[in-house]
Amino acid sequence: MRILVTGARGMLGTALLPCLGTEHEVVGVDIKDFDISQEAAVQRAFGDLRPDFVFHLAAYTDVDGCEANPQIARDVNTRGTRNVARSCAEIGAVLLYVSTDYVFDGSLARPYREDDAPNPLSVYGRTKWEAEQQVQALLARHFIVRSSWLYGPRGKNFVATILKVAKERDELRVVSDQRGSPTYTYHLALKLAQMVQVQAYGIYHVTGAGNCSWFEFAREILKLGGLEQVRVVPISTQESGRMAPRPANSVLENHRLIESHLGVLPHWREGLAHYLEEGQRLGEFALPASDRGEKPLQREVTGHDCSNSPVGG
Ligand SMILES: NC(=O)c1ccc[n+]([C@@H]2O[C@H](COP(=O)([O-])OP(=O)(O)OC[C@H]3O[C@@H](n4cnc5c(N)ncnc54)[C@H](OP(=O)(O)O)[C@@H]3O)[C@@H](O)[C@H]2O)c1
Repeated sequence: MRILVTGARGMLGTALLPCLGTEHEVVGVDIKDFDISQEAAVQRAFGDLRPDFVFHLAAYTDVDGCEANPQIARDVNTRGTRNVARSCAEIGAVLLYVSTDYVFDGSLARPYREDDAPNPLSVYGRTKWEAEQQVQALLARHFIVRSSWLYGPRGKNFVATILKVAKERDELRVVSDQRGSPTYTYHLALKLAQMVQVQAYGIYHVTGAGNCSWFEFAREILKLGGLEQVRVVPISTQESGRMAPRPANSVLENHRLIESHLGVLPHWREGLAHYLEEGQRLGEFALPASDRGEKPLQREVTGHDCSNSPVGG
């Protein structure tokens, strides 16, 4: 099978490519190859490459940047996805589009299911939701995979940012009134790779198991990273002063994964432990050694844009 991955150099793309295995012919493309908002360029590239399956990850992911630049957000996220979906329909490729928890408004008092009605609060959420609708309208053989709060190697992300600012300050102010499920890119990538074999198309929620607030997430990062002496102060979304509104509850129930017996992702704490090991190995951050001269991370593990990061000043 010939597989095409857009956004291949992004945080999730770099996790996904090695998971796709050697039995497929895999091509990763990014903005250096072609701009997804340019329809003719997308058509030409898809016509040349003729993939059987497309993972469409490319997006303008800076949530506050989208709010400030709604036209770019629409061009890349909505029009870009429409271009990709149209080209998939033309050549008969299956499309897996990665979407977001930010399509929901967060007002429900329970985790969101795949069939709950989206009502995005931000430009980013709206452009991703409009993109979902384009995908649904343009081709039958599609997956829409909504995930949330991604972190992992080779990307700006909340975990790396917390570790960075913890070195510079004694106290961090972190939002405590937004809840979601942190998702490790490698855990998500393994599940996405599995979906190449699936034929039950439609919407899937795929996130790390468990949930927390950004405040609780920050405390766990510092605890596992051996930086517990850094104080974390809970603040409200309003106090954080971020430009784009964000859902208070964006926990996603992974109902279809369970229903389809595809299996859920490991707990976000397991992903965090793995990323702390991996990030150190890759030189993305250095964690303090413990008193016994060992790395502070004792846990056995199996295994970007902090634009979304609600870290306050
Ligand atoms: N990050 C999260 O917390 C999160 C949560 C839920 C869902 N998602 C979704 O997951 C997917 C992957 O996210 P990610 O975190 O891996 O994002 P990322 O690191 O920002 O990667 C996005 C990639 O898309 C490329 N790109 C941007 N504009 C493009 C254009 N016009 N044409 C072609 N390529 C373009 C970027 O290239 P440059 O870097 O060169 O601009 C980048 O390589 C996205 O669809 C995102 O909406 C992310």
